[in-house]
Amino acid sequence: MPKNKSTSKIKTAKLIINKNTYELPIYNSTEGESVIDISKLHSQAKLFTYDPGFTSTASCESKITFIDGDKGILRYRGYNIEELANKSDFIEVVNLLIYGDLPNKEQLKKYKKLITRHTLLHEQIINFFQGFRRDAHPMAMMVGVMGALSSFYQDTLDINDAHQRQEATRRIIAKSSTIGAMAYKYSIGQAFVSPKNNLSFSENFLHMCFSNTAEEYKVSPVISKAMDTIFILHADHEQNASTSTVRLAGSSGANPFACIAAGVSSLWGPAHGGANQAALEMLEEIGSTKNIKKYLNKAKSKKDPFKLMGFGHRVYKNYDPRAKILKKICKNVLAHVGIKNDPILKLAMELEKIALNDKYFIEKKLYPNVDFYSGIILRAIGFPPEMFTVIFAIARTAGWTAQWTEMIEDPIQKIGRPRQYYTGNKSLKYGTKRSRKNTR
Ligand code: ACO
Repeated sequence: MPKNKSTSKIKTAKLIINKNTYELPIYNSTEGESVIDISKLHSQAKLFTYDPGFTSTASCESKITFIDGDKGILRYRGYNIEELANKSDFIEVVNLLIYGDLPNKEQLKKYKKLITRHTLLHEQIINFFQGFRRDAHPMAMMVGVMGALSSFYQDTLDINDAHQRQEATRRIIAKSSTIGAMAYKYSIGQAFVSPKNNLSFSENFLHMCFSNTAEEYKVSPVISKAMDTIFILHADHEQNASTSTVRLAGSSGANPFACIAAGVSSLWGPAHGGANQAALEMLEEIGSTKNIKKYLNKAKSKKDPFKLMGFGHRVYKNYDPRAKILKKICKNVLAHVGIKNDPILKLAMELEKIALNDKYFIEKKLYPNVDFYSGIILRAIGFPPEMFTVIFAIARTAGWTAQWTEMIEDPIQKIGRPRQYYTGNKSLKYGTKRSRKNTR
């Protein structure tokens, strides 16, 4: 039974197998689909459920983020993403995600201070960076250094201590931006730039990336607002692959830094957070509006593994609300940095228009997702494509830590241990079956 009284039991589903009837409770969500509780099914019916990719499975009870994929709605703790993107800054959204409601002025001031004083990294972490090749993908450095934090901050590893959990959360959020900026500086062969605590989270990140020992980067309000909005839009997205990875890693009692490193790894894939880099690279490969048809045909072909990157979503079967916001920002940022008639933006908008009128994309309900326009903005700000997923990861530390905390505090949480639909050999006598194809 879930801990939340508002998820009241409304009715039961009946499952009939070989004349045996099993009653499965149904719980009402506050919004969105109800859930059938199958947790007792195996003990009663000796059956597992089978759901590759978890397309019909709610893995947990959560109060953090709500998505209505058909209507294109995204809310953090009940607040619409459009309103948060307009009225809040990233740290206010972090506070909202973690503590459940918007802070008042005093609380926010205090929280900003608490996060900001964790932006510095232990000096020895600098040595850690020297171990990477200069051409390493910055996400490789994010994964490695995030996990390594558990060796530097051993006073916040006790997951059963609420104070340590909060402190670890603040460290992860604050230090992820410093690690991301250091990964960038290391990859371009420049000296690391120390954080400045008088700047906002977004301004500081831009400063650490673009200032250098010879020149201070002047952070423009248009760019810092765009950066902040990108952080807000990527802060959480309920039980996606990386968040589920964080929860699963955490369910074994692993320390928070190790769990977040697992989330960073999962995010890296091109079907998830890696799609922002892949989307821009795809647009560059398409090169001209003349080639759109050819690439759309490739995306539609069953024989071709090519997919339109930045298009489609497991949950959104409508326009991703984050993509709508980013499309607007994209135009502002390009105008601000003096890029007139950007051919990549023109190509992206034309590609979107043609795809949205194409039978294949209409029937499969494939719309632009958050990754379609974010790369164009980040490139205009000055980031290379390899940094796009790093920026996503920095933002998502907010959601990962909020979801990890919720899981640890959930009295019914237990170690995540899915079962399987086994189709391998039955018991064999040793040596009776030898394969000729024993190498791949
Ligand atoms: N281009 C062409 N066809 C697509 C695309 C696409 N971008 N996305 C889905 N399809 C097709 C699939 O081939 C499938 O066709 P079928 O029914 O004939 O087999 C159908 O649409 C359904 O797609 P699935 O892959 O089953 O949907 P799923 O929910 O598993 O995948 C995903 C969603 C991974 C996002 C997919 O749409 C995709 O790969 N998109 C491109 C990568 C991308 O942009 N990822 C970012 C997602 S947002 C995020 O993580 C922040």
